[in-house]
Amino acid sequence: MRIGFFDSGIGGMTVLHQALKILPKEDYLFYADTSHVPYGEKSKEEVKQYIFDAVEFIANQGVKAIVIACNTATSIAVQDLREKYDFPILGIEPAVKPAVQKSEEKQKKVLVLATRLTLKEEKYHHLVKSIDHHDIVDSIPLPGLVEFAEKFEFREEKVLPYLQRELSSLDLKQYGTVVLGCTHFPYFTNSLKKLFDKEVEMISGSIGTAKNLERILKERNLLGNGKGDITFFASGTKVDKGTLSKYKNLFGILDQI
Ligand code: DGL
Repeated sequence: MRIGFFDSGIGGMTVLHQALKILPKEDYLFYADTSHVPYGEKSKEEVKQYIFDAVEFIANQGVKAIVIACNTATSIAVQDLREKYDFPILGIEPAVKPAVQKSEEKQKKVLVLATRLTLKEEKYHHLVKSIDHHDIVDSIPLPGLVEFAEKFEFREEKVLPYLQRELSSLDLKQYGTVVLGCTHFPYFTNSLKKLFDKEVEMISGSIGTAKNLERILKERNLLGNGKGDITFFASGTKVDKGTLSKYKNLFGILDQI
């Protein structure tokens, strides 16, 4: 059986990219809720309904596990989804813990980039409170990056002016680690790096999530014998050939980072 990957849009491909490296012998179903993206700018109640509808659709296709490859959806719904379904449901959250460790060693601060909804949620505040004992974690929402990604617009000349504007109120030299707390953001790593100190580290939760997936499949004896096939759905419809090739090109972009 396949493994389902779910996101509001193409961000989840950054997590699937890591999973394919660790688990190439699995087959995948990737579901982007493109009719309702962006989640990060909507209300919690509205987004929760979209997530439950999408996960029900994915479950009906027959999957052995689902990865909620979206920080926003994880913070809002992962607990409730786990109660509803009996197959493993994995999530992703901003990698604040490793970021704080790394920045403390360098005596620098941490900047968390995520969606507005993720940053507003109790789960995020709880996470930061439990780790940030020296008050070194700042955060800022960057919804424009989700919009750029959904338009497949990754060119630096388009993205950099937006980033410069949004981050202009911060002294970027003080950050040793930047947390890419939205799965749409890793596509923009190279543009982001231009704005920070040379030694800055950009970290996302995607490798950790892929490793977790491997561990859980092993533990439950669910490892497969597939070929790395991926079936793509956009809000319940199989994607057309043009979109399919755009999706597959995303791996090329990620390989260059
Ligand atoms: N990719 C999503 C995340 O990781 C959310 C993007 C959005 O729909 O606003 O948070």
